[in-house]
Amino acid sequence: MQDIEKLEQDLLAQIGEVSDLDALESLRISALGKKGSVSLMMRGLGQMDPAERQTVAPKLNKLKNTVGEAIERAKAALHAAALDAKLAEERIDITLPVRHETTGRIHPISQVMDEITEIFAGMGFDVAEGPDIENDFNNFTALNIPPEHPARQMHDTFYLPEKEDGSRQLLRTHTSTVQIRTMQSKKPPHRIVVPGRTFRSDSDQTHTPMFHQIEGLVIDKTSHMGHLKGVLAEFCKAFFELDEVTMRFRPSYFPFTEPSAEMDIRCTFAGDHVKVGEGDDWLEILGCGMVNPRVLEHCGLDPTEYQGFAWGMGIDRIAMLKYGIPDLRAFFDSDLRWLKHYGFVPLDVPTLGGGLSR
Ligand code: DAH
Repeated sequence: MQDIEKLEQDLLAQIGEVSDLDALESLRISALGKKGSVSLMMRGLGQMDPAERQTVAPKLNKLKNTVGEAIERAKAALHAAALDAKLAEERIDITLPVRHETTGRIHPISQVMDEITEIFAGMGFDVAEGPDIENDFNNFTALNIPPEHPARQMHDTFYLPEKEDGSRQLLRTHTSTVQIRTMQSKKPPHRIVVPGRTFRSDSDQTHTPMFHQIEGLVIDKTSHMGHLKGVLAEFCKAFFELDEVTMRFRPSYFPFTEPSAEMDIRCTFAGDHVKVGEGDDWLEILGCGMVNPRVLEHCGLDPTEYQGFAWGMGIDRIAMLKYGIPDLRAFFDSDLRWLKHYGFVPLDVPTLGGGLSR
């Protein structure tokens, strides 16, 4: 009997001193495990006469329970302490300001796309997108470029392998495809801009097989060429962050617009640097025009009721222009040193109110 009491005191004292979970587990095994001190005592019950067993057995059971419970309590307390320590150590003060100098950079093309969409969003345009892989109809036919049209050759199209029915998908050669997708899937009026990737089998110092465009489309019952000029004038001033940008519209031809024009802006070439806004030179930056009635018909719109304008602009070139980036191909080299030099800090999101570029 005294042994039992002594063992209980000893074990409880040891449990009280244990300071980590591993040590507690060793202690549990040495007391309650198969060969543990408590288990050995219980095994002794077998050699006792029945009368003795009757008085000893309940005491041993009590010992076992008391020790077991004490271990569980100690375990819970150690767990809680470990969690508290972890929480204290991993504490984050979310009220601290973010470190300004982060290592990642926004690619100039992403930046310029954000700047452009921000400007047009400010004029009430929505952003629309479409897939890189397109069908012939959306890329050509619906845009009034029928199968034997010479404009198809000009586009140096990447085709996917022919399907069983003889049709071929292609990598869109321009973002004009999304004019068709929008007019076919939604009801007018439309006022959208479409930034995205485009592809042509073309590669030299000023061309890459993948490049970027932004398309604009306005369809309603009254919009005319004057509105087109106004929208683009507003865009140029906002984008180049200048009070005045002189522009001119030269008559041109695109199958999907009638009349069509190309827009140039005034600039000065100084070595390989270009100063935008004024000077003696002109720089062509986009194609535009009134949407051809045939395109409207292809999209199920009545051209006697609806009309509007569209434009398409290369993003890469105007990004080079705005940010003085000399080589187009460097855009797609994934050279981190280049990105660190020409890239933008992620938190400097372009906004009309806060400034487009910083
Ligand atoms: N899709 C033409 C191209 O890639 C650019 C273009 C010109 C788009 C005139 C238009 C437009 O929407 O009206 O060269």
